[in-house]
Amino acid sequence: MKASKLLLGLLLSCAALAANAQIIIKFSHVVAADTPKGKASEFFAKRAGELTKGRVKVEVYPNSQLYKDKEEMEALQLGAVQMLAPSLAKFGPLGVKEFEVFDFPFLFDNTAELHRITQGPIGAALMAKLDAKGVKGLAYWDNGFKSFSANTPLKTVADYKGKKFRIQSSKVLEEQIRALGGIPQMMAFSEVYQALQTGVVDGTENPISNLYTQKMNEVQKHLTITDHGYLGYAVIANKKFWDGLPADVRGQLEQAVKEATLLANKIAQEENDAALAAVRKSGKTTVYIPTKEERLALKKALAPVHIKMADRVGKELLQSIYKETGFDPSKL
Ligand code: LMR
Repeated sequence: MKASKLLLGLLLSCAALAANAQIIIKFSHVVAADTPKGKASEFFAKRAGELTKGRVKVEVYPNSQLYKDKEEMEALQLGAVQMLAPSLAKFGPLGVKEFEVFDFPFLFDNTAELHRITQGPIGAALMAKLDAKGVKGLAYWDNGFKSFSANTPLKTVADYKGKKFRIQSSKVLEEQIRALGGIPQMMAFSEVYQALQTGVVDGTENPISNLYTQKMNEVQKHLTITDHGYLGYAVIANKKFWDGLPADVRGQLEQAVKEATLLANKIAQEENDAALAAVRKSGKTTVYIPTKEERLALKKALAPVHIKMADRVGKELLQSIYKETGFDPSKL
């Protein structure tokens, strides 16, 4: 990242904290504005302005306009931006590997199970681990469950063999692709469309809202609704900035986060359903719903990821989640 870009950001945040000046919060993210995260961050910005009566102005920068996935975390830690909502997978590279537990395939059957973790004590304990990184964890926002896409049909496990799949930077996701006989390729989100278009990778995984708003359906002939893993976000702030806010303003912003969280988690499924309908309508991608047997075969093929990667996220954490969700990879 350019030093001048960072310096400018730092200067701006110092200026914003000067007495009585309007506080500017730069909120950067990598997806389109027309997604669950995009809409929730816009809503947060609106409510932050209203609740603080204009003392805070939240500027939302979608679509990797300011920073790509990897750069944005560094920018937050340095204070060049004040808030982000990266996917949970992106905390592994930050050194908080436990978050990669959310990448474990088929760990959650539905959102109710998931919310027992993200909205309960396990989620809170995970968030607290970010403090040591200078990051204040504020809330979990859903996107939804990921599906696989490629230019060739993905019906049986054998169909994944030898294919290159773009993944986020996560050791668990790497292992997931390997378990299917595929080749994992880590890549920034903003580069996926082009990589699919030029054939640098054959396929990818994402919730449909991300697939559609990045126009990946134009460069992926086949989409199989696998719902094999979860993609969600942590809304985070630069800890020093957040802790340094006047207490009343911080309280109002916490309220705005709370309201935006309710919205995010309410619209996530609707947005993904609408995106799927739009993909079907575009007619460029064949949408395949796997049979019960095909989905079970995929689940079985991915079960070893749970055994292999347990130590990375911590066996205790994994067991505590199994206890809540009832998932047992050894029974598959
Ligand atoms: C991805 O990189 O695929 C996602 O994390 C993008 C996002 O933020 O939803």
